[in-house]
Amino acid sequence: MTLTRRKFLQNTAALVAGRAAAKELDPNRLAKFVDPLPIPPVMKPLRGGGFRVAMREFTTKLHRDLPPARLWGYEGMSPGPTFEMRSGHPAVVEWVNELPARHFMPIDHELCGAEKDKPEVRAIVHVHGAKTRPEHDGYPENWYVPGESNKSLYPGVQDAAMLWYHDHAMGITRLNTYAGLFGAWIIRDDAEDELNLPRGRYEIPLILCDRFVNEDGGLFYPTSFKPGVVWTPEVFGNVMLVNGKAFPYLDVEPRKYRFRLLNASNGRFYFLSLSNGRPLAQIGSDQGLLPEPAPAKTIAIAPGERVDVIVDFSRAAGSSIVLESQTLGLMQFRVGSGRVADSSAVPAKLRTVERIPESAAVAVRRLVINECKDRAGDSMRMLLNNTPWRAPVTEKPVLGTTEIWEFVNTTDDSHPIHLHMVRFQILDRCNFASELFLVSGQMRITGARTPPEAAEAGWKDTVRAHPNMITRIIVPFTGYAGRYVWHCHVLEHEDNEMMRPYEILPA
Ligand code: C2O
Ligand code: CU
Repeated sequence: MTLTRRKFLQNTAALVAGRAAAKELDPNRLAKFVDPLPIPPVMKPLRGGGFRVAMREFTTKLHRDLPPARLWGYEGMSPGPTFEMRSGHPAVVEWVNELPARHFMPIDHELCGAEKDKPEVRAIVHVHGAKTRPEHDGYPENWYVPGESNKSLYPGVQDAAMLWYHDHAMGITRLNTYAGLFGAWIIRDDAEDELNLPRGRYEIPLILCDRFVNEDGGLFYPTSFKPGVVWTPEVFGNVMLVNGKAFPYLDVEPRKYRFRLLNASNGRFYFLSLSNGRPLAQIGSDQGLLPEPAPAKTIAIAPGERVDVIVDFSRAAGSSIVLESQTLGLMQFRVGSGRVADSSAVPAKLRTVERIPESAAVAVRRLVINECKDRAGDSMRMLLNNTPWRAPVTEKPVLGTTEIWEFVNTTDDSHPIHLHMVRFQILDRCNFASELFLVSGQMRITGARTPPEAAEAGWKDTVRAHPNMITRIIVPFTGYAGRYVWHCHVLEHEDNEMMRPYEILPA
């Protein structure tokens, strides 16, 4: 983490130096907690069933005291409308590209898939965490241009969970998502309903992202501080947005709430806590409920991950509490006074998550996370298994089988690794001699294997692969055969080829 920090500071210093004209906003000058938290509307189906969603450019104020910013969003808003789905109920969505012909973010034509011969504006939607056929999954090369649309079928045969949808166009995913193309997709089921968790007005999505904002109120996407280079390895904005607003507030009643958190940032990890020091009760993660609530003072959430928490405000009547990430205030809860009736519950047992025994795996794949540095020690290329995107497919699990994938992280950063279409369980993490491995290929484990903590003991689709560690997951490849992708969810890494296709072979 320290290296990331150092790089970030270097980057920022160079950016500030080279960009005096751009007038970066000083976030400390923004009044905190003056805008009410926006809640994205629920997506309405068409009269005949199904949905039609248009990607559009629009303007909106990121903060009360800023001029409007230009953004791209689904249905002309960011976050886009929330999909409310029932498990077992399929949905067809027509995603229509109505974006302008020119991009407003700096495209790097050196990146794979974003070459000069490609149209500037391209889009393809992926529903992160959805089990769907490959042709409906938003394969990065299946992008299409303004004026075109694409229909996808989401069977919905999966457990209740908070998924999300976002752009996935090859080589510009980081730019399209940063421009605002993301939203929540919530699946519900009977088992979850029966728990009587807080719902309706008391269940609220909190979608986190950070952006560089200029004094003119608009977004800024930094380019490299190296002359002639566009791509930059990480982007950490100066302003934190929750549901698209900078530092909002939410009026709450003194009772239990359920917050569905999503980290939609390009690269920022959050370490969430409450300013009153009370624990957050995590009840779910990427692919639904945990076996039992996991209370914690701090909850980590990497790009792409989701966290489902219960916050009980009943003993905080009349006070205000800030949701923080490492002392940085993200948003404020203003708790009403008095007493209110609260019939919701947080059962001690949420659901059964059968641990998959290691013996169920028919194969173990070692997958290395690589960062190639230039002479100055700066990241230039990020890869999985040192293999570029366009090399032939190497990971070919068979439909219906279970495999162990071990991510050997030889870099100094934590990478959130996401596999499309499947859900998995985390087995463990352990340290290894990274230098030795890089130099000689020899693997020496240097510590005990640590099983995941309670917050990571449910079904996942994105896992933090920590630096100099081996992170092992066990994956049942159930669903559909065909070609999908797996990648790092730091979007700058993903676009610079920390992404690979994988193919599920028919049984
Ligand atoms: Cu959240 Cu491949 O995506
Ligand atoms: Cu990464």
